[in-house]
Amino acid sequence: MNNKTYEELISGNQIYQMVTERLDTYSTDIENLKYGEMNNELLDLILDLYDDDKDFPYNKLRKFSISEILGYLQASHKYYLTKKLPEIEQSLLHIFSKYGQTHQLLAALAMFFNSYKTKLVAHIKTEEKEFFPYIKKLMKAEKGELDSNAKAGLFSESSVEDFNDTHDPIEDELKEVSKIIQEFSGKDEMPLPYRIFLNQVELFELELRKHAIIEDHVLVPMAIELENKLKNVA
Ligand SMILES: [Fe+2]
Ligand SMILES: [Fe+2]
Repeated sequence: MNNKTYEELISGNQIYQMVTERLDTYSTDIENLKYGEMNNELLDLILDLYDDDKDFPYNKLRKFSISEILGYLQASHKYYLTKKLPEIEQSLLHIFSKYGQTHQLLAALAMFFNSYKTKLVAHIKTEEKEFFPYIKKLMKAEKGELDSNAKAGLFSESSVEDFNDTHDPIEDELKEVSKIIQEFSGKDEMPLPYRIFLNQVELFELELRKHAIIEDHVLVPMAIELENKLKNVA
């Protein structure tokens, strides 16, 4: 096996593992979908999206139910907060235990990462506490489970457009990590623990980028469609 194939295999596996790992907790309170019930076709398309998002056929993802997309995104949020962030923190702690607090680089990284974590948690919280519940209400309205008053109130309290206007690309800032490390290590070869840390952060950045693409190009258009449909019959 030549080196390139080996590298490709490793990174392909890493992505596959990353995408499927969150399904251990896959469930949604909307249609009581449980682990194992995630549509395989949906999973395959998501893996394709990780591979290449340039010419990705978004229409293909829009044929799934909004609750399936929402369920996947919620499982991802949970996965970031309970698995990915702690893993990255663990590896930062490992660097601390190895180099002590003498490295200036460490102080810079720890500061960066703490503030990043606060922003990411706030980002996810807004989606979980505001945007997703709004979509769930739209779904209820579609099923006729909201009376006309509740329906009218629904459109005055929130909108998909509000979310769209404020949805930041939270992953961009993670590119700073590589800059911070390079700034301090200069031309020297980067020590292994830093390389591991950087690799985790870069994978997480990729992960968050794909996640945002699903939110912006799949969930948002689906929610707008639902919103318009309900407004037209109101
Ligand atoms: Fe999200
Ligand atoms: Fe988001």
